[in-house]
Amino acid sequence: MLSQLAILFIGLASALGCRTGTEIVSNQDWWKTTAFYQIYPRSFKDSDGDGVGDLNGVTSKLDHLVDAGVGALWISPIYPSPMADFGYDISNFVDIDPLFGTLDDFDALVARAKQLNLKVILDFVPNHSSDEHEWFKKSVRREDPYTDYYIWRDGKNPDDTGKYEPPNNWLSTFQGSAWEWNEERGQFYLHQFVKGQPDLNYRNANLRKEMENVLSFWLKRGVEGFRIDAINHMFEDDRFLDEPSSNNANVSAGYYDSLNHIYSKDQPETYDVLQSWRDLLDKYAQESNTDTKVIMTEGYANTDLVMQYYTHGSNIPFNFGFITNTRSGSTAAEFKSVIDSWLDSMPENYVANWVTGNHDQRRVASRYGSNRADQMSIVCLILPGISVTYNGDEIGMLDGEISWVDSVDPAACNTDAEHFEQYSRDPERTPYQWDSTTSAGFSTSSTTWLPVNRNYVSLNLAAQKAVSHSHYHVYQAMTALRKLPIFKRGSLSVEVLADNVLAITRSVTGATPIVALVNCAESSVSINVKNSIAVLDQMTVYTSSVSSGITPGRNVTTSSVQLPVATTIVLTSPRLYQIVHGA
Ligand code: NOJ
Ligand code: MG
Repeated sequence: MLSQLAILFIGLASALGCRTGTEIVSNQDWWKTTAFYQIYPRSFKDSDGDGVGDLNGVTSKLDHLVDAGVGALWISPIYPSPMADFGYDISNFVDIDPLFGTLDDFDALVARAKQLNLKVILDFVPNHSSDEHEWFKKSVRREDPYTDYYIWRDGKNPDDTGKYEPPNNWLSTFQGSAWEWNEERGQFYLHQFVKGQPDLNYRNANLRKEMENVLSFWLKRGVEGFRIDAINHMFEDDRFLDEPSSNNANVSAGYYDSLNHIYSKDQPETYDVLQSWRDLLDKYAQESNTDTKVIMTEGYANTDLVMQYYTHGSNIPFNFGFITNTRSGSTAAEFKSVIDSWLDSMPENYVANWVTGNHDQRRVASRYGSNRADQMSIVCLILPGISVTYNGDEIGMLDGEISWVDSVDPAACNTDAEHFEQYSRDPERTPYQWDSTTSAGFSTSSTTWLPVNRNYVSLNLAAQKAVSHSHYHVYQAMTALRKLPIFKRGSLSVEVLADNVLAITRSVTGATPIVALVNCAESSVSINVKNSIAVLDQMTVYTSSVSSGITPGRNVTTSSVQLPVATTIVLTSPRLYQIVHGA
């Protein structure tokens, strides 16, 4: 079916309209239009019944990724860890935590992924290690070459008992001072995250070499790239000056957002280190004659700073626009502005990316409302470039309800019973809902590390496969559509139509465009699409948001398209619809 489609489109002139889509040519470009999928391994699939997900669990479910139409998986940390930040506190960068399995299990995962033509991306956490890492223990004892592997500073103003104040006012992202006193060394160390995550010192050449060795270790084990964690925290201004107040009256003293982080974040040296990692990955790909190795970078920062990651080696500097700048109630104009702002800021010949969720953010269906979950899948998958989906969002999973007493996330536990909900990341981390059996098919154990959302009996993958129209089907339909040349080569136009409707159009000369219509209004609307877009008089609904009541396959008259509240539909020519459905 898809090959027929390819034939239909191949040969169409690629004279491109408003915006040039991504050119895809060789295998080196495999990543440029791929749907990426994030796996949070603690919560994906538990193979040994201990209530925590693991590598063999992931391997057993790789077929799901193929079925969903994704091409690459990014796995959150699986390395040995005391789990103070659930794996983002790493005590050995080149091994697997027994909770998740063994290096052999990892090799088996990679081998299975290769059979399925899935690319495996690992999380690389350069900013910090665990305080249980050997390097840190040796650094505490001032054993060379480890003495300066971390950011150590003297304290200030000793009191009568000889107790010091921290070197400056810097704060941890998880609240409170970013400095922890170490009695044995007689100095403070910096931790921008929890105190079990001491920051590494990138001004130390030996440390940099060690981290390069970490990258090489995993490349040799067959990974296809890295998601780089918290990249904009890697360097600190070496004057260690106090940071100014953010003057945000809504944030209490001691909370991270109460300061403006001009010295502890977004420092220019970061880009040089990133470039050196790019070079390392390229050299490896060249020498091993393998596909391009991908770098995804996580940096919540202003657009200018994020764009510089592109030009210093990141293929995918995460675009968090749909997380930080749009939400339930956002207008079509606001969506358009997020899309335009990324595309207009992106340096030429780079590839856009669209992130809908991750393990640090409330789930898409909870942020936008269940009736708009499909809207976000459709928008991200119809836009040019890369989509990044957090596991479970393809079935519209909702945030779990986790009480203060049951909270385990340090971002929640470092606050109090009154404030934790605003900070907790537990709700989006509840186990994946596979089916309606014990623990949603996630584990054979009835107790799991975070409770399974009670809605699993009806909200699960198996149930969504069994009905004719579900969130999962929408997601699948969109990933299938993306494999067409029109998505790889076609142009893009983003418009606001009357009455708060967002229209996203992909087209190549000579073919009927494919159009997504998003009703952003809180009421139903009727619009004339033909007025502004070169559609046929009659188009077919290729896919539609589940709550719209509009069945895929229905024909619509484009001079008068009815869009019930919160509806998103994708229109194709009747002929394309028939080809896709084998009619
Ligand atoms: C960003 C990760 O996504 C988050 O989960 C983690 O807590 C911090 N970086 C620290 O590694
Ligand atoms: Mg397990």
